[in-house]
Amino acid sequence: MRIGVLTSGGDCPGLNAVIRSVVHRAVVDHGDEVIGFHDGWKGLLECDYRKLDLDAVSGILARGGTILGSSRVRPEHLRGGVDTAKGHVSDLGLDAIIPIGGEGTLKAARLLSDAGLPILGVPKTIDNDIASTDVTFGFDTAVMVATEALDRLKTTAESHQRVLIVEVMGRHTGWIALHAGMAAGAHAILVPERPFDVAELAKVVGERFEAGKKFAIVVVSEGAKPRPGTMDFTSGSKDVYGHERFTGVANQLSVELEERLGKEARPVILGHVQRGGTPTAYDRVLATRFGWHAVEAVHREQFGMMTALRGTEITLVPLSEAVEELKTVPPERYIEAECVL
Ligand code: F6P
Repeated sequence: MRIGVLTSGGDCPGLNAVIRSVVHRAVVDHGDEVIGFHDGWKGLLECDYRKLDLDAVSGILARGGTILGSSRVRPEHLRGGVDTAKGHVSDLGLDAIIPIGGEGTLKAARLLSDAGLPILGVPKTIDNDIASTDVTFGFDTAVMVATEALDRLKTTAESHQRVLIVEVMGRHTGWIALHAGMAAGAHAILVPERPFDVAELAKVVGERFEAGKKFAIVVVSEGAKPRPGTMDFTSGSKDVYGHERFTGVANQLSVELEERLGKEARPVILGHVQRGGTPTAYDRVLATRFGWHAVEAVHREQFGMMTALRGTEITLVPLSEAVEELKTVPPERYIEAECVL
């Protein structure tokens, strides 16, 4: 078989582990040929690719980012993109394409699959918000990075008797905030699923200082917003792809809390550091398993599907089901974490 693989959307620790796994299983075990498109769908649309053999994937398991490059270009964003993709798949004699990506990439994968292309998706995102899979690789690494940062921030917050508002990634869902906040023992966790009331937040933080504690740590997802009418709040503008460009909920909250509490408050935006660097062992294993199962599914011609983790098993789910809705944090998880609701 001839298989094309690509990584699309925001990068994520573990992408290289999937690429390596696909090449090992396909080339070594099945005698396939694998090519890797550069910079996501852009590479398929521009026929920009290279051959991936064992040498090409040697030593990449622990490397962050993606050796293939990524971009946010999607076929439906380009005029005639779907037809161009179909033409290139046919010209290159590809029997399958394995796109590795998040919500946007999987929607594009579904579109191309519906147009008749042999697509087998692999989900990735540090945000952990893809429905139909219990976990996405990258999430564990992001939570580990954020937790370590929170542990470090506690000591400086305590030295200066400050409130630190730590903004983590999570455009639509609060999984990273919830898990890192729980792991580090944050004093409040704010997530997009549940708009916050700044007066309640100020009360919780204020009571902590009144009880003699010297600092407070608030973890907030970048996509968290106040309940309407509870705080002046500037929402983000849109970027070129129509995604919200976040203007810094931590910045706005630090000003508001400092005024309300008369305590020094500082914003800390962790940003892309959560996506960079080496994947955790958990993410390497999950990514490797996804790659292995993707190749097996391709050989069974189970196209229009996506690999998924259910419990401890890797299974396949239809792309149509996977992109239907995002996996949000359920209310019972807030209760466990004793969030400021
Ligand atoms: O989708 C993953 C994600 O990390 C989001 O949490 C974040 O909003 C976004 O990517 C940032 O992406 P970009 O690389 O476009 O700034």
